[in-house]
Amino acid sequence: MKNLVILISGRGSNMEAIVRACAHEAWSARIAAVIANRPDAAGLAFAASHGIATAVVDHRQYPDRASFDAALAQAIDGYAPDLVVLAGFMRVLTEGFVQHYSGRMLNIHPSLLPSFPGLKTHQSALDAGCRVHGATVHFVTPTLDHGPIVAQSAVPVRTGDDAAALAARVLKTEHTMYPRAIRWFVEGRLALDGERVTLTPPEPQWLFLDDANETQAHTAGEGA
Ligand code: GRF
Repeated sequence: MKNLVILISGRGSNMEAIVRACAHEAWSARIAAVIANRPDAAGLAFAASHGIATAVVDHRQYPDRASFDAALAQAIDGYAPDLVVLAGFMRVLTEGFVQHYSGRMLNIHPSLLPSFPGLKTHQSALDAGCRVHGATVHFVTPTLDHGPIVAQSAVPVRTGDDAAALAARVLKTEHTMYPRAIRWFVEGRLALDGERVTLTPPEPQWLFLDDANETQAHTAGEGA
């Protein structure tokens, strides 16, 4: 039974999707805790209502990143995590913190990395004239929004989209892809090979969503 600790900053819809998948798919894992850096993070209420331990480590109470990260690591490690899941956790983490969880911390970023690290990814994709946009699940490395890619989801960019419409389309894929990627970790199927991630046995590490007709499809082909 693996312990998962999920970090959030706000809404927590990815966290919800992970909690539900863990229960419905009977993963060999438990959500040991949901930890937020903001006391008003909306997702905390969902976690508590599902009997999950919650904690707040408020970054505003710490004078610098290093002391915040030390307190956060202490809170996390109290739950003996096998995996730390960043799910809309909006803090830049120090190198020491990231190294401490090397190979056991995942993030989801709302772009097809390595395009558009950082904030405002949906507007950036629109501004660049992208016809395809998406999200990436990756192992966390000290470089922001960078690291070995576990899975990617892609959606079409439609004429007339604004950033909110595009974000909603991408978010729908996140709720499928992130739980799936975490389940692979729980099942011990992910291996790191330098910058690359291998999944054994292989299956597609991507998904495409065409929400025009609400179909979600894996394209047949070379698979993983
Ligand atoms: C998601 O779009 C995620 O990719 C990004 O922040 C957003 C979090 O949304 N890192 P939620 O809090 O999971 O609803």
